[in-house]
Amino acid sequence: MTIHNNYSLKPHNTFGIDVQSKYFVKVNSVFELKQVLSNEIYKNVPKLILGGGSNILFTKNYEGLIIAINNKGIEVINEDEHYRYIKFAASEVWHNAVLFCVNNGFGGIENLSLIPGSCGAAPIQNIGAYGVEIKDVLTEVEVLSLNTMQIEILKNTDCKFGYRDSVFKNALKGKVVILSITLKLSKNHTPNVSYGTIEQELEKLKISTPNIKDVSNAVITIRESKLPNPKEIGNAGSFFKNPVITNQQYNLLKAKHSEIPGYSMGENTKVPAGWLIEQAGWKGKTFNNYGVHKKQALVLVNYGGAEGKAIYKLSNDIITDVNAKYGIKLNREVNCL
Ligand code: EPU
Repeated sequence: MTIHNNYSLKPHNTFGIDVQSKYFVKVNSVFELKQVLSNEIYKNVPKLILGGGSNILFTKNYEGLIIAINNKGIEVINEDEHYRYIKFAASEVWHNAVLFCVNNGFGGIENLSLIPGSCGAAPIQNIGAYGVEIKDVLTEVEVLSLNTMQIEILKNTDCKFGYRDSVFKNALKGKVVILSITLKLSKNHTPNVSYGTIEQELEKLKISTPNIKDVSNAVITIRESKLPNPKEIGNAGSFFKNPVITNQQYNLLKAKHSEIPGYSMGENTKVPAGWLIEQAGWKGKTFNNYGVHKKQALVLVNYGGAEGKAIYKLSNDIITDVNAKYGIKLNREVNCL
């Protein structure tokens, strides 16, 4: 285990921002993790656990210790008549976990195909796409508590999942390290194709009774057509959350902008931030080497060599402008440091 000094984070964040961490270490086991955490030299140094770096924007050098977990393993730990319970080590790549399930006929996460990042990071923001969230299939999260240095198990309800939200972003922020997640995958799965674009994609392919693999392929096709591949263009997926406003506020907006989309959530309505940003005129805007993606206005991009603080400033300008035009204050989904 080597602790590096002034280490470039460029390969460790999907935005591809070239900043440095004062200290950086890759740990291969809980033993090594505990060793680093109890090391006197780093005791009072700020620490950050990094997964795939797919939901982070570095705006400056990190003046602390970044710990990258490097534990691998996919294991079927239990099964009953209807489900298989599969444990994924935190540093397994999320899409590989999806492919493992799809190829073995285990259903439930096929709609979450091609989401960048690691398995350990997935519950933090309750990753979701095309009508499915990880909270729908997650049974347990195994963590190392930084208070007790003991391994603890959190059940689904302990995770307090919400839309792109969980206990790991709130009460447990900085207090635990996620070691593994366990998911409950269905043996006789009925795929969820209720999200409009999936239905359309399957229709195009003339598939009327899709299996798990068909849905995964459809999601991959949709994502590839709309979302930039972080290996080619730096980005962290949706930069903002879709705002939830009251029905009253929505109806007032609808009276002015009849075409505004909205998804009813009882007393509230969720409005696609991508629509607001596009209508405000930001979609496809480019400033030197960064900008707003041409095909999905929710995604900010680094075309190469951009500074995190410039992208952060762009996000501020978008928030101010959307607020001025629609009276809605967008919240960032990406963690900005
Ligand atoms: N829209 C526009 N212009 C745009 C983008 C979207 O007008 O540039 C409007 C359209 O009306 C479209 C609607 O927004 O019908 C919904 O668009 P889309 O299906 O692309 O979904 P989204 O709400 O923009 C959310 C997630 C994505 C996820 C998709 C599919 C959030 C913040 N984003 O985007 O998640 O892939 O749904 O489920 O909830 C991510 O979190 O990184 C991410 C990509």
